[in-house]
Formats: sequence, structure tokens, C-alpha cells
Amino acid sequence: MKDFWNERFGSKDYFYGKGPNHFLKQSASNIHPHSKILCLGEGEGRNAVYLASLGHTVTAVDLSEEGKKKAEFLAQEHKTNIDYNVCDLRDFNFGEKKWDVIISIFCHLPTDLRALIHKNVYTSLKEGGQFIIQSYNPEQLKYNSGGPKDPQMLYTKEILLHDFPLFKWTKLEDSMEEVFEGRGHQGLSSLLSGIGVK
Ligand SMILES: C[S@@+](CC[C@H](N)C(=O)[O-])C[C@H]1O[C@@H](n2cnc3c(N)ncnc32)[C@H](O)[C@@H]1O
Repeated sequence: MKDFWNERFGSKDYFYGKGPNHFLKQSASNIHPHSKILCLGEGEGRNAVYLASLGHTVTAVDLSEEGKKKAEFLAQEHKTNIDYNVCDLRDFNFGEKKWDVIISIFCHLPTDLRALIHKNVYTSLKEGGQFIIQSYNPEQLKYNSGGPKDPQMLYTKEILLHDFPLFKWTKLEDSMEEVFEGRGHQGLSSLLSGIGVK
């Protein structure tokens, strides 16, 4: 896994682009100023750097050293800072009631790890904290515009409702959208987008 992502992020360009994910950008207007934010599977840093440039304190976790190098470079370009931890999410210490917001943008995980990480997300969010997630859903298997081909790594509303029985979802919906993010996400895509509040 680590080798796969390091190779993907080893090229000069940003595989998913330098700009933030569209859904995250839309959702960011509802994040309180100076929030403490954790970004899961942050890759080359486009979302973490965007949030840091808005004045938030941002921690990122990802298993890719190449991702970290690119993310720190991007942060310098934007004259901002992020705290990027190279770590498998399985081993990351999420803490308890620590984060105002947790972000998961195309952080597709196998079933057992997803369940563990979502448990940690809930425990580590403060009361009133938000979980902002966008992923591909299983319908995406019909398209070649991005995302994993392993069905267990694609998320559904039912999965999120099951993983977070106590969240109030202010948004939870499937959609078909044109997505253009670097070389990695190109074209019509079947997405799941959610904002869960603890
Ligand atoms: C599709 S990329 C998305 C990157 C970023 N969120 C974005 O939207 O640009 C998935 C990311 O998840 C990371 N990842 C996958 N499994 C992981 C794990 N077990 N622990 C930490 N990071 C992981 C990969 O290294 C990769 O950067």
C-alpha cells in the first residue's frame, strides 16, 4: 500500500491537483474560525493546505512520505503550515474529544480498517464537532473516472449510518458529478457526500 501511494505521489505534478476538493471547499464556510482539524489520508496536501490557509490549525495523517514532501511544499507555496504525520491510520493516536472537524476526502479503506477508523473519528471529535466526508460509492465501478476497483472500499449511506449511529447528518447524499482533480479524478463520477455532527 505504502509503495503504491509513494510511487503515485513520486512524480512532479500533483496527482489529484493542488486545489481543494469542491465539496470540502463548499463545506468549509460552515467551519468555525480557528478550528482544530484532522485530515485523514491527506495525500499531497491540497485539502489540508486549503484549510490551513483559512486560518485553521490542521493535522494530516497519511502513510506516504512522498505525499508529505509534496504537502509541505504546497504549504510553503501558500505561506502556511500543516502538521503532517506519516503514519498508518491504524496506528494513529486520534485522542478523545480533541478535534473540531475531521475530514475524509477519498480516503477509501478496507472494511475492518474503515470500521476502526470511524470509531476513532467519533470518539476523537468534540461534542458538536463535524465529520466531513466525500467518497466514491459502488455505482462508481461503472466509470473509469477515479477511485478503487475493490467494492469493499466504496462507501454507501448505509455504511455511514451504521458506523455513526449517533451522528446528526446535516447532509448525506449520493450524486453524479463531473469531477476534475489532477490526473487522478477525471470525469463523470458517482459520489457519496456527508456532513455528520456529533
Ligand atoms: C485517493 S488518495 C486521496 C488523497 C487526498 N485525501 C485527496 O483527496 O487528495 C487516498 C490517500 O489515502 C492514503 N491512505 C490509504 N490507506 C491509508 C492508511 N491505512 N493509513 C494512512 N493513509 C492511507 C493514501 O496514502 C492516499 O494518500
